[in-house]
Amino acid sequence: MGLPLASVVLVLLLCQTAQAACPQVCSCNSHHIVRCANKSLTAVPPNIPDDTEVLDLSGSGIRDLQGLSDQHLPQLNELTLTGNQLSNIPDRAFVNFVEINMADNPFHCDCAIDDLRKWVAGKALFKDKIICASPELMRGRPLDTVYPDQLEKMCQSASLFDTSAVVGSFFGGFLLAVVAYVVVVVVRRRRLGRKKPRSGDFGKLEEEDT
Ligand SMILES: *[C@@H]1O[C@H](CO)[C@@H](O)[C@H](O)[C@H]1NC(C)=O
Repeated sequence: MGLPLASVVLVLLLCQTAQAACPQVCSCNSHHIVRCANKSLTAVPPNIPDDTEVLDLSGSGIRDLQGLSDQHLPQLNELTLTGNQLSNIPDRAFVNFVEINMADNPFHCDCAIDDLRKWVAGKALFKDKIICASPELMRGRPLDTVYPDQLEKMCQSASLFDTSAVVGSFFGGFLLAVVAYVVVVVVRRRRLGRKKPRSGDFGKLEEEDT
């Protein structure tokens, strides 16, 4: 009798956890709407129900959508990511036919975002435009009005800056070496200068002894 009862309890427990499959901080309703807005998330939470149709992840600190790519959400058709910390979206496996809202994210518009730009260009799924937040020259520009060669230039000027930093540190190192050499030479000369009179003193002492 004990074993069947235990298995019934186990089955009940399993049913309950299956039903309750919902990220801890979110609220999931029977209309397949999952709301996780303003929850201070830094990543997409796990355990989003498979049958989710509407997902609201707005107003958090989400930096990438890896957690979304990892989950299988075949029925997702509306995704809100407004007001997060997204700077690019390299992996977009999750957004096949999803209406998506990504306003108010710090998109970084350099050559790395060109792939996303191309992808967005042909889609009518974006409720709001993707607006660049950085670099300075690109700030405030909608991604779909930026030309690919402009994005390319953002990377070139960044690498130019890197190059000048490398060159700068090379010359800095060279200068340091020269200074160190000069110091060594001066110290040596001083020591030699001090030794000479001392040996003279010894000589005098020796002379006095004899
Ligand atoms: C989240 O916070 C923003 C800003 O305070 C507010 O406008 C929005 O209505 C909130 N969203 C929800 C679903 O509570």
